[in-house]
Amino acid sequence: MADSSAVPMEGSAAANRRVSVLARHLESSSSDVDSNEPSLYASLTSGSDGDSVFAHVVKAPEDPILGVTIAYNKDPSPVKLNLGVGAYRTEEGKPLVLNVVKRAELQLVNNRSRVKEYLPITGLAEFNKLSAKLIFGDDSPAIRENRVTTVQCLSGTGSLRVGAEFLARHYYQRTIYIPQPTWGNHPKVFTLAGLSVKTYCYYDPTTRGLNIQGLLDDLGSAPPGAIVLLHACAHNPTGVDPTLEQWETIRQLIRSKGLLPFFDSAYQGFASGGLDADAQSVRMFVTDGGECLVAQSYAKNMGLYGERVGALSIVCGTADVASRVESQLKLVIRPMYSNPPIHGASIVATILRDRNMFNEWTVDLKAMADRIISMRQKLFEALRGRGIPGDWSHIIKQIGMFTYTGLNSKQVAFMTKEFHIYMTSDGRISMAGLNSKTVPHLADAIHAAVKLNA
Ligand SMILES: Cc1ncc(COP(=O)(O)O)c(C=O)c1O
Repeated sequence: MADSSAVPMEGSAAANRRVSVLARHLESSSSDVDSNEPSLYASLTSGSDGDSVFAHVVKAPEDPILGVTIAYNKDPSPVKLNLGVGAYRTEEGKPLVLNVVKRAELQLVNNRSRVKEYLPITGLAEFNKLSAKLIFGDDSPAIRENRVTTVQCLSGTGSLRVGAEFLARHYYQRTIYIPQPTWGNHPKVFTLAGLSVKTYCYYDPTTRGLNIQGLLDDLGSAPPGAIVLLHACAHNPTGVDPTLEQWETIRQLIRSKGLLPFFDSAYQGFASGGLDADAQSVRMFVTDGGECLVAQSYAKNMGLYGERVGALSIVCGTADVASRVESQLKLVIRPMYSNPPIHGASIVATILRDRNMFNEWTVDLKAMADRIISMRQKLFEALRGRGIPGDWSHIIKQIGMFTYTGLNSKQVAFMTKEFHIYMTSDGRISMAGLNSKTVPHLADAIHAAVKLNA
């Protein structure tokens, strides 16, 4: 603490003085503190913030996605609409706790033998096993051959981060290619884990669809062994997924170049309403016998957002390698958060292990996906009904929680100011945040915004 090199250069002389006071305070026992010296607490808290050892800290901007909700919450308008948040809302605009989740929680509460002991570093073993089956399929050869190691992590974000930290330590290539555009947190997660982030072409603004040629060209010129981040389904923010034929072409290119696929599966079941259908891309890359990583999240598909339940699976060449990889994953996790929380993973395991509950979940999941699809149809019709210029068919062609409207940041700002509609500045709207009553308001706002730009 006495080392002055620990004080940032921008720190004022006052900050230096505070550190000296702190150091002297720590060096001396309370009994021999000079009674004329102001108390440490008083000296650290008095005066302007120039007296703080943190006075040099600049205010950080809000997260571009979470900041939308903060702005929405401050708006007193009764017609305000939040389409920025990536969370499901009912037709009444309310957050939803699935009935099957409530039943699972009741079971857990009523089970008197349950305790709150620490989980192992790798999490709840049964949850890990069931999560791997959910994404890779019941009959996955990789699971049968014990080539998969799965660790419970803190939702999708935590799974991506643990995977990235592992790669930065143990994989020879440090470059990861992420799609352009992608979920805003991806570049931060990978950069802070120590990987070097590059982008590959993904979206074509003219067709509002996939730029498959650009994607193949960019991955074709990536260095051998580079890591490639792929959205397993329901690409965020564009809602544009490759077709199965395009996935097959991508797979062949990735395997022929020896690139390493890292799947982000945050929406299994949300895209099509079917868990197996939405896992097809991942399964193609596993049945070919090759290696890959998969980050799974239960935030959206089980509505467990705040419980932070997810899993990282690494599919390895042999069972022996998988076991060594797991031992190293523990070394990544232990100093980060020691071990994951027990409650959310117990909910998931309770549902996945019980046939009735599992079936009920698939029905709930399909209902959520179908409501989102029906909102796409309603919005498309409302825009057409207003005769708004342009081809809006991408709204019904895109898939999953989000529509990438094509509205620019000026139009978005206009819609927020004049219509109290909140979304990210790239024009992404959450279809899950819409309902039959709010569709006309959004269509009116888009109409006015498009006129503005015409
Ligand atoms: C593409 C993608 N990946 C990962 C996540 C992470 O979600 P969570 O950490 O809440 O599971 C999200 C959430 O919006 C996402 O859209």
